[in-house]
Amino acid sequence: MIDRSKVLEVLRGYDLKNLRIGMIASHSALDTADGAVEENFKTLAVCQEGREKPYIKYFRAERDQKGNVITGMIDEVMMLKRFPDVLDPENQDILKEKNTLFVPNRSFTSYCGIDAVEDQFTLPLLGSRNLLRSEERGDKRDYYWLLEKAGLPYPEPIEAEDINQLVMVKLPHAVKTLERGFFTAASYEEYCQKADLLLRQNVIDQDGIELARIERYVIGPVFNLDYFYSPITKRIELIGIDWRFETSLDGHCRLPAPQQLTLNEQQINPEYTVCGHNSATLRESLLEKAFVLAEMYVEATQEYYKPGIIGPFCLQTCVDKDLNFYIYDVAPRIGGGTNVHMAVGHPYGNALWRTNMSTGRRLAREVRIALENDCLEQIVT
Ligand SMILES: Nc1ncnc2c1ncn2[C@@H]1O[C@H](COP(=O)(O)OP(=O)(O)O)[C@@H](O)[C@H]1O
Ligand SMILES: [Mg+2]
Repeated sequence: MIDRSKVLEVLRGYDLKNLRIGMIASHSALDTADGAVEENFKTLAVCQEGREKPYIKYFRAERDQKGNVITGMIDEVMMLKRFPDVLDPENQDILKEKNTLFVPNRSFTSYCGIDAVEDQFTLPLLGSRNLLRSEERGDKRDYYWLLEKAGLPYPEPIEAEDINQLVMVKLPHAVKTLERGFFTAASYEEYCQKADLLLRQNVIDQDGIELARIERYVIGPVFNLDYFYSPITKRIELIGIDWRFETSLDGHCRLPAPQQLTLNEQQINPEYTVCGHNSATLRESLLEKAFVLAEMYVEATQEYYKPGIIGPFCLQTCVDKDLNFYIYDVAPRIGGGTNVHMAVGHPYGNALWRTNMSTGRRLAREVRIALENDCLEQIVT
C-alpha cells in the first residue's frame, strides 16, 4: 500500500483553487462528472480508445467565457490505448499537474487491478483505498469476512454436496472477462448437470467452479442502497436506491411460463450481466433497518479497515418474504447504478439536501465542505 505521506505530499502540491475531479470514463463517470460540475469543479475523464464517444463527444462540456457550463459535463479527456495506461508515471504526472482528485470506480479497480491501485497510483483518491480490495470475492478479508465481523446478514454459504434449496453459484464468466458466469441450482444433481452444460458452452471454466461461492438464493426484490459516509460530519446519508436490469435474466422474467419451457439449451440458463438501472424507494418501515445496516457497516470498516469508509458505498441487498435484508455484495466506492440519479437526484438525497442530490454531486459537495473546513486530507487516501 502506498504510504499515506506520499499521497498527502501530492495533495500539498495541488492548487486548491483549481481542483479537478477525475475518473475512468466508464461505470459511474457521468454521474461523478455531473455532480462535480454542479459543485463548480472542472472534470477530466480518462478514456480508452473505442469506448470514448459519450465522453469526448456527446457529454463534452461547453462553457461560456465566465466558465459557466452551457451543456455537458466532461471538460477534458485523457485518451489512452487501454485504461491501465493511466498507471504510467507520465500519465499520473499529467493528472497531478491538473490538480486531479481521482474517484475510484469499479472500472478503475477492474481494469487497472487492485495491486496497482494500492501500490502504484499515487494520486489522491476520493475514498478508501484499502477497502477497495474487500470487493475481490474470495480474498481473505473480502466483504463477506467484513459482514461476518460486523454481524450483518448475508446469504449463508452452502457446500455443493449439501445443496437442498435454491442456491446461487457465483463465479466469473469464462469468456466475457469481468462478467459473471453465475447460475442457480436446487440440488447437487442439478448443480452438476448445469455446471457440465455451462462448462461445455464455455460460459464457465474448471478453475471458476473450484473457487465458486455457493450461497443461499434469497428470493425477493433487489435493492442497491447507495449511501454516503462523511468523515467530516460523521454522518451516514442514504442518497438513493437503484436496482438493475440484467441480461438475460430480465428477458426470462418477461416470458410467460409456456414460452420459458420452450427455451433451448443455449437459452435456458439466464446470465446476470448488468445493462441498466432503475430507481426505487423502500417502504418506510424498512428504512430503519436500512440505516442500521449502514451504521454497522461503517463501524466495522472503521474497526477493521482503518480509517474506514470515506464517501459513497453501496450495500447490494435482497429482501426476503419476512422483510429481512440480506447483503449479497458490497461496493466500498461509488455504486454502478448511480447514473439513475444523475442530475435529478433521488427522493432521499433530495429530501435530505433540499436540492437535487446525486451520489456524484454529494461526492463533490464533500470536497467543497472539506475545502471550507480546511480538511481535505480527511477525505483522501
Ligand atoms: N444470494 C443471492 N440471492 C439472490 N440473488 C442473488 C444473490 N447473489 C447475487 N444475486 C443476483 O446476482 C446479481 C449479481 O450479484 P453480485 O453478487 O452483485 O455480483 P457482482 O459482484 O458481479 O456484482 C445480483 O444483481 C442479484 O440479482
Ligand atoms: Mg454486485
